Amino acid sequence: MKAIEIRNKYLNFFKNNGHSIIPSAPLIPENDPSVLFTTAGMQPLVPYLLGEKHPSGTRLTDYQKCVRTNDIDEVGDNRHLTYFEMLGNWSLGDYFKEESIKMSFDFLTKELQIPVEKLSVTVFAGDEDCPRDNLAAECWKKAGIPEGHIYYYGKDDNWWIAGEEGPCGPDTEMYYDTGKTPCGPNCQPNCDCGKYVEIWNNVFMEYFKSKDGKYTKLSQQNVDTGLGLERMAMLLQGKETPFDTEIFKPIMDKLLELEKVDIIESRRIIAEHLRSSMMIISDGGRPSNVDRGYVLRRLIRRMVRHLNKLQIDLQEIANLIDINIDNLKEMYPELTKNREIIKSVIIEEKNKFVKTLTHGEKEFQKEMNNTKQQGKNIIDGKVVFKLYDTYGFPPEVTKELAEENNMEVDMKKFEELFKEHQEKSRVGSEQKFKGGLAEQNEITISYHTATHLLNAALKVVVGPDVHQKGSNITTERMRFDFSCDHKLTDEEKKQVEDLVNDWIKQGLDVTIEEMKKEDAIKSGAECMFIEKYPDIVTVYSIGNVSKELCGGPHVKNTRELGTFKIKKEEASSAGVRRIKAILEK
Ligand code: SER
Repeated sequence: MKAIEIRNKYLNFFKNNGHSIIPSAPLIPENDPSVLFTTAGMQPLVPYLLGEKHPSGTRLTDYQKCVRTNDIDEVGDNRHLTYFEMLGNWSLGDYFKEESIKMSFDFLTKELQIPVEKLSVTVFAGDEDCPRDNLAAECWKKAGIPEGHIYYYGKDDNWWIAGEEGPCGPDTEMYYDTGKTPCGPNCQPNCDCGKYVEIWNNVFMEYFKSKDGKYTKLSQQNVDTGLGLERMAMLLQGKETPFDTEIFKPIMDKLLELEKVDIIESRRIIAEHLRSSMMIISDGGRPSNVDRGYVLRRLIRRMVRHLNKLQIDLQEIANLIDINIDNLKEMYPELTKNREIIKSVIIEEKNKFVKTLTHGEKEFQKEMNNTKQQGKNIIDGKVVFKLYDTYGFPPEVTKELAEENNMEVDMKKFEELFKEHQEKSRVGSEQKFKGGLAEQNEITISYHTATHLLNAALKVVVGPDVHQKGSNITTERMRFDFSCDHKLTDEEKKQVEDLVNDWIKQGLDVTIEEMKKEDAIKSGAECMFIEKYPDIVTVYSIGNVSKELCGGPHVKNTRELGTFKIKKEEASSAGVRRIKAILEK
């Protein structure tokens, strides 16, 4: 069964069981700077799991686009993916264990026609926070799972929470027996040998864990389930890896045709990272040196490096993107719409990387030989830093290159040097700023405040994904670069202008406070280069319309600004637009 058929069967099955189908949230969480990407179907639903009323009711189902990057270095083996699709169904204070387990059992055995003997389940064994989940085990038995296929595990295996704090509870997981020979007499579903593959997880969410480790009961009992689509497709198709399913097949075949060196791990890395990058870009992500932008940069750069390893001409990238979009367009129609932007962002990033790659790899070879000659096999952190600083070489790439040569790198030393460097550039930029203060005058200060207002207005009019990409102020005008995938319409420009002028007229106070960097980010403060800031930062707020990490200075009240006028809106680079504007007093 193809992945899209599994998805459709799933959504229909739950629809027939009274669930509303809701759309996948974007991969880039809206208004949630605390996480990089959407990592689970429940993530966009947290407010509703905590008791808020969902407009579509108390039974929901969807497919959710997810990116998880903690295992990025594992991609290349036979199972890890950074992008995956999670099918899910939710009860928001509606049904609980019995109905949830019955529906899962029916879906697996009747809709997907998995023989019962291939299924095993695990349930929570109980501890001081929550008793053993006998009810879940009873429900499984009643549904048709034999006692010998039910396993009990503790919190490590059968408790689900996203992060440290939030809604959580015991879960019950379903496993598929691949039929492989067990690795030993103790082989059980929680064993990694590959005999058992986890296919679905039903979380019985009735607790809230606070940061101090305390559990309290939620106002309602919820069910949150997640089924990994790629994995299910792989199992139902009897394939060894997700790369053998139709999701990756066309791109894997093309790589095989193009490659001059045969390395299966590299083919998988290219195929996986390309799909992931395309999905992120399609949902508004752009490469940068921070946070999610950095993850995207890493994915693209790692893909390019492996294309080089296979000696595939990098000009082929556009073609590979087309193959992938054509293959995935039914599952993700948005890819077709965003075809050009996906291409231009990836190709531009590739071009940037190519410039640094050749020099960096030569330098790496030289340093590796030096290290070997000294009889060592750990590459000094200074070398990692030099490659980063001089050649723009991401430290992970150096690490990966080292590992390919059976060497290690001193990452701890690298981190130390990196911190030192950040501190120096902070002091440097403060000095520069102080020096520049001589040139600061009433006009440039006004423009600086107007920049913050423009940033905030663009977020309202164009969308929350707009972020500052650059700014330049003279006494004549302000220039502001921001992420955006389209030319602003006349109407958008007008709305932005009107909004800024409205805020100016409202006479909003500009206030400044000092806080810990992490608190500032959590509070939603806008920030361009997170790693460039010290641990304690200054945050400038304008009324309650704008909040940004910033060194200032600013006007005291927006009334001082005059009238804001956009003079020009144009492309700056791929996915980045530029506005030039003036203030008339
Ligand atoms: N939230 C659970 C998971 O991610 C079930 O959806 O596994």
